Amino acid sequence: MERLQKVIAHAGIASRRKAEELISQGRVKVNGTTVTELGIKVSLKDQIEVDNVPINQEEPVYFIFYKPRGVISAVSDDKGRKVVTDYFMGIPERIYPVGRLDYDTSGLLLVTNDGAFAQKLTHPKHEVDKVYVAKVKGIPEKQQLRPLSRGLFFEGVKYAPARYDILSADTKAQSAIIQLTIHEGRNHQVKKMLQAVGLPVQKLKREKYGNLTLGNLRPGEYRPLHKKEVSQLLNLAKN
Ligand code: URA
Repeated sequence: MERLQKVIAHAGIASRRKAEELISQGRVKVNGTTVTELGIKVSLKDQIEVDNVPINQEEPVYFIFYKPRGVISAVSDDKGRKVVTDYFMGIPERIYPVGRLDYDTSGLLLVTNDGAFAQKLTHPKHEVDKVYVAKVKGIPEKQQLRPLSRGLFFEGVKYAPARYDILSADTKAQSAIIQLTIHEGRNHQVKKMLQAVGLPVQKLKREKYGNLTLGNLRPGEYRPLHKKEVSQLLNLAKN
């Protein structure tokens, strides 16, 4: 059991003194009931809200996960499909993915229980560079890809300029491998951008997120992020 103001301060919401003020001002609820008394003690099981927003009492945890194809970027699925958290059975914290990869997209996904971290990284203003590798149908002409670097409008959505590279082309199979670096996180963004230039995506993988790469991870594997990696990501999100 810990004092309420200490728990609020520990969750990073406010300093201990500010937390005391929040309590006195009637902005804190414990298990749905407003508490204005300063001394009360709470446990991990108590649901604490500040301004009606639940606070996270768990220690923050951060993972890099190699999402396989055929997995939903969620913690549950009403159709019973595999979800990301099925791969984290031994992790007691209430974790969830940072942003999304499509069901049929594989690659690097961050997983955490730290809402502020997830929010910072997915905020449209702070988006960090993400590198994707796509197998597309067709052999692109150089000029065909140019709109990608200028930014484009497709199906009523505006996409910011991206960097691209043709990694290889297979004339026999009439397909190519294209690397695309984007910093936004719009729905199906890579597929849409490549479709917009006439190159339907057949296969997609996210290889890099900020400075992070999958390294030795194999599909379905994860590892905790080092403290330095977490702070590097937060720094990138700031800039
Ligand atoms: N762009 C896509 O089209 N799909 C993803 O899963 C991620 C980026």
